[in-house]
Formats: sequence, C-alpha cells, structure tokens
Amino acid sequence: MSTILISGANRGIGFELARQFAADGWTVLGTARDPSQASELSQLPRAEVLALDVTQPASVEALRDALDGREIDVLIANAGIAVNLEAKPAEVTQADFLQVVETNTFGPLALAAALKPNLLAGKLKIATAMSSLMSSIGANDWGTQYTYRASKTGLNAVWSALSREWKADGITCTLLRPGLVATRMTNFNGIAVETSVAGMKKVVEGLTISDSGRIIGYDGTDVPW
Ligand SMILES: NC(=O)c1ccc[n+]([C@@H]2O[C@H](COP(=O)([O-])OP(=O)(O)OC[C@H]3O[C@@H](n4cnc5c(N)ncnc54)[C@H](OP(=O)(O)O)[C@@H]3O)[C@@H](O)[C@H]2O)c1
Repeated sequence: MSTILISGANRGIGFELARQFAADGWTVLGTARDPSQASELSQLPRAEVLALDVTQPASVEALRDALDGREIDVLIANAGIAVNLEAKPAEVTQADFLQVVETNTFGPLALAAALKPNLLAGKLKIATAMSSLMSSIGANDWGTQYTYRASKTGLNAVWSALSREWKADGITCTLLRPGLVATRMTNFNGIAVETSVAGMKKVVEGLTISDSGRIIGYDGTDVPW
C-alpha cells in the first residue's frame, strides 16, 4: 500500500487527512512539533509520529535523516499558521510577517527539498502543499489578512517553480485549497473538516503529472492565481 507524509498531522486538517488516509489502508507518516501531544495520531492504524518544526532547519534535517531510504508516495505540506488576521496595515508587525512567511512559505519548500529523494523512490511521486483562497491575487476583492495572504501567495510561487523544475523528475507538484474549514485556525468556523478532507483526498488520489502547477480546491475546481 502507499505511504503519505503529512506535516502538522496532530490536529485540524492534517489530523483528518491522516485519519482518512489511514482508514483507507495507507501508511501515514504524520509530523507534530511535539509528538507527546499527538496521542490520537499515534493511535491510528499504520501511523508513525515524527517530530518536525518546519521553521527549524535542524528539525527538517533530523526528519530527512530519520526517513533516509524510505519510499514516500505523497507529501502533503500541510503545517501552517495564521497570526493576527484582522491587523490593519499599520498594525502588521515585522515579527508577525516573518514568522508567518517562515512557516507557510519557507517551511513547505524546506520540507519538499529534504524529502525529494523519498518522493523519487516512491511510486506515485506527488508533492502537494496547503494553499488557500487567500493566496489568490485574482480573487482578492476585499483586502485584509496581509501576512497570511503574502505567505500563501509566496507558497504558490514556490510550488509553481517546483512544478516546473521537478516535472523532469516525474514529480507532480500541486497546491490544494481546503475551503474555509472549522479548525482552531478559524475559531471553528466553516465547513466540517471531514468534508474538506474527503474532497482533497479524492483530488490527491486522482492527480497525474498533467496536474502539476495547478491550485485545486477540495471540490475539484481550480483556484485563480
Ligand atoms: N482552516 C481553514 O479554513 C484553512 C483554509 C485554507 C488553508 N488552510 C491551511 O491548511 C493548513 C492546516 O490548517 P488548519 O486549519 O488545520 O490549522 P490548525 O488546526 O491551526 O493546525 C495547524 C497545524 O500546523 C502545525 N504547525 C504550525 N506551525 C508549525 C511549524 N512551525 N512546524 C510544524 N508544524 C507546525 C500545528 O502544530 P501545533 O499543534 O504544534 O501548533 C498544527 O498541527 C494550514 O497550512 C492552513 O494555512 C486552512
């Protein structure tokens, strides 16, 4: 059966992805910043909990070393944060901005780069990352969310470049949009996490190399750039 690595799998969308893929027979490598706080994840069938903070290069290197030689079919770079979403332009601090970009933009790139040998060894060769409607410049008609938008638009740029560079290696690089989902990030506003994840799982399972460079919603529709 196939193997999937999901970052930030201890709660929210990441945990539900782990739960649904594990229930379907996949081996799940789920990461958590603090594995001692990932008891639900550790109890899933065929799930392994691995420590990872995507903002710490030593942590990414340790994960890479721990997984040396393991095949990974699908990567979902899911871990992300939102800080002070309602801040007006003058209230956006440099510290908040850099923290969000470090986590949401640099983190997925560092993770994908570290795990490229594992993806090459896997059969499906799929690298996805969790984007957002907020990433879209074309669909932004109400402003707000400066740090979060910048981080996810940056993620789109990173994944778009990756999709071109890694196509020659046969790796499909696609961005996912979960919709507005009821998790801690949204104060539990939005659609049920089970619905969003069931949709994204179907999208991931249907991906081919021709989907590289797309941003695909949980409902299968494309998100404008
Ligand atoms: N919920 C939505 O409506 C929505 C919409 C669009 C996109 N998204 C994206 O979907 C992804 C998951 O969101 P969510 O709603 O499930 O959020 P969440 O419930 O807040 O969960 C975020 C996960 O990311 C982990 N994480 C945060 N910083 C990390 C770091 N530096 N290193 C490793 N892991 C880290 C968290 O770990 P800890 O438990 O240690 O904090 C947690 O497991 C994010 O990328 C988010 O931007 C969400």
